[in-house]
Amino acid sequence: MARPKITVVGAGNVGGTTAQRLAEKNLYDVVLVDINEGMAQGKALDLSQAGPVCGYDTRVVGTKDYAMTAGSSIAVITSGIPRKPGMSRDELLATNAKIVKSVVTELVSRSPNIILILVTNPLDAMVHMALRVSGLPKSKIIGMAGVLDSARMRTFIAEELNVPSTEVEAMVLGGHGDTMVPLPRYTTVKGRPVSELMSKEKLDAIVKRTRDGGAEIVGLLKTGSAFYAPSASAVSMVEAIHKDEKRVMPCAVLCEGEYGLKNVIVGVPVKIGCGGAEQIMEYDLTSDERAALDTSANAVRELCSTVDRLMG
Ligand code: NAI
Ligand code: 2OP
Repeated sequence: MARPKITVVGAGNVGGTTAQRLAEKNLYDVVLVDINEGMAQGKALDLSQAGPVCGYDTRVVGTKDYAMTAGSSIAVITSGIPRKPGMSRDELLATNAKIVKSVVTELVSRSPNIILILVTNPLDAMVHMALRVSGLPKSKIIGMAGVLDSARMRTFIAEELNVPSTEVEAMVLGGHGDTMVPLPRYTTVKGRPVSELMSKEKLDAIVKRTRDGGAEIVGLLKTGSAFYAPSASAVSMVEAIHKDEKRVMPCAVLCEGEYGLKNVIVGVPVKIGCGGAEQIMEYDLTSDERAALDTSANAVRELCSTVDRLMG
């Protein structure tokens, strides 16, 4: 039986690692696309040659040509540029929005039933761009950020309590940036609320470290941003779709009234299955949590209106 085709656009740190993780699942055909001549082809060849050693026979193709992506069921979009010295935030926003616009158009014209997982930053604004140009229903355009931010929070809690990180559940909502909304009330260890297991000071420090989690890694790497946990997060979303898991994951999707948020992309708990973002789950929020989500949504709205102004 044919394997589902998963396209990864951008063969850089996140894209290359995503392709590797997908290849190692031995469940998919993987197409890796990059604008940079030879980059996707070289990494795809390298990944194919790792197959006999690692025990997979995944077909991995690297290309610049979107014809190879035809018939993809899912694409993970990681293509973009980081901010360079002297470059304004608006310039970065406009450059990455243009990249996402062209990538989405190329993909959708060849795979009309595709589900898109956006990774490129600024994440929520890129989901907005993809929604604007794709013509796809909102259930098929999903931003990856909450899974990563929650994984960071789970890791910090596990370290503090000396428990396996897989036994920690956490939920981080909101935009992928300074206004993200970690929810300690929905954070548990084997079902026990984390607030019963550590002091408020420790929990506050973990919330802060989670918000700063991306910057902490940039500060250490100096020449790029995180990619192991981001690629793992994107691949967990691919699997949830492919296996129709119906798992609730925090993802950036268009809210149309849920949580009182109208027409804005923001990270919320979403049931992920073969239809993509099948249902936004409405958790009870306190007035403080709701206010934090509103503030975050307003920050995303500003970014999206900048995209609209810059892209016309
Ligand atoms: P990278 O610089 O290693 O890779 C980006 C790749 O995109 C490069 O190989 C480049 O040639 C390619 N590219 C640029 N324009 C393209 C186009 N038009 N078509 C195809 N490929 C194109 O960057 P990295 O570390 O892989 O990060 C990728 C993006 O993901 C960045 O925007 C980063 O900020 C974002 N990111 C988002 C996260 C999230 O939680 N949403 C987490 C980690 C990264
Ligand atoms: C991160 O959170 C850069 O958005 C990326 O690591």
